[in-house]
Amino acid sequence: MSHVDEFLGSDVLSIGPLRLKGRAFLAPMAGLTDLGMRRLAQRFGAALTVTEMLDSEFYAGGNREAAVRAEGAGLDLHVVQIAGCRPEWLAEAARLAEAAGAEMIDINMGCPAKRVTGGTAGSALMRDLGLAIALIRAVVAAVKVPVSLKMRLGWDEAALNAPELARRAEAEGIAMLTVHGRTRCQFFTGKADWAAIRKVREATALPLVANGDCASREDANLMLATSGADAVMIGRAAVGRPWLVGEAARHLAKTPHPGPNAAERCAAALEHYRTLLSLFGKEQGLRHARKHLAAYAMQSRRADAAALRSRLVTSESPAEVESILSNLFVAERAAA
Ligand SMILES: Cc1cc2nc3c(=O)[nH]c(=O)nc-3n(C[C@H](O)[C@H](O)[C@H](O)COP(=O)(O)O)c2cc1C
Repeated sequence: MSHVDEFLGSDVLSIGPLRLKGRAFLAPMAGLTDLGMRRLAQRFGAALTVTEMLDSEFYAGGNREAAVRAEGAGLDLHVVQIAGCRPEWLAEAARLAEAAGAEMIDINMGCPAKRVTGGTAGSALMRDLGLAIALIRAVVAAVKVPVSLKMRLGWDEAALNAPELARRAEAEGIAMLTVHGRTRCQFFTGKADWAAIRKVREATALPLVANGDCASREDANLMLATSGADAVMIGRAAVGRPWLVGEAARHLAKTPHPGPNAAERCAAALEHYRTLLSLFGKEQGLRHARKHLAAYAMQSRRADAAALRSRLVTSESPAEVESILSNLFVAERAAA
């Protein structure tokens, strides 16, 4: 199933000491970018994947679930994302992640959720650049690995301060920036503004990653051309399709590839399911897997996808789920 070695040899992006093969990354998504999804995305050609956001206080405090979410075994490149509003917790979380094998630490300044912004973390930090910079400084000083930053365009239309934060972050030693082309107040509404990301391009020389609403390889091309970014980051469109990121990377590298065939897609979905059961245990794994199972069913584009989805998300029987997944994409191909 590994297609990575045959391509992208020349399309290398440097982030500090790291050499990334390709210009398409998988976005961090809480509840979704578990180790199973990150492993598959990388194997299919994603140049970089990021863990779900870890609450720095929980993680640094030894929370077991946070440690499972920070797992990176079997990855070519392990990036851990941390969030929080206290420099000492963020620094400690970064140190722990580095000691556990993280090769890059990403700081979240983009999450719009009230639970996060209420504690002046995530995108709320874009309203308090003094605190944002103190957090960046603490993390950069705590680890030897590169530190990256993920943000939005600003808090709202009246405060589009991503270029200023980018400039100041660069001066603090941040190694890469990702910008989701929406404001915090937009949450996920409207359309991501790829052209607005260009203002960050003009403000800094750092490797820049554009994010928001990239759903195909054609989008990836247009997103780079419009934003001036060096790489794209794909989130929601890759759920149920972890191979999409690699397809985008190959398209950008001008080494197109037909992508995994039906049998390989089935094998990927099965492997993902088994990884979740072994990571989280049967009971929690079954629950955690449901969002992915639903997405795999819908991505199969079968006429009976909705019926299969409801069987997959209600089944308590791993044997039944595995039997459905084993044929999920095969019928799609037969019908095509
Ligand atoms: C369910 C969900 C969970 C997310 N969790 C995180 C997160 O933990 N950290 C983060 O930086 N962004 C998170 N995001 C934002 C995504 O990384 C990305 O910025 C956003 O979805 C836009 O990209 P897309 O249109 O390709 O999905 C999340 C998004 C979704 C939909």
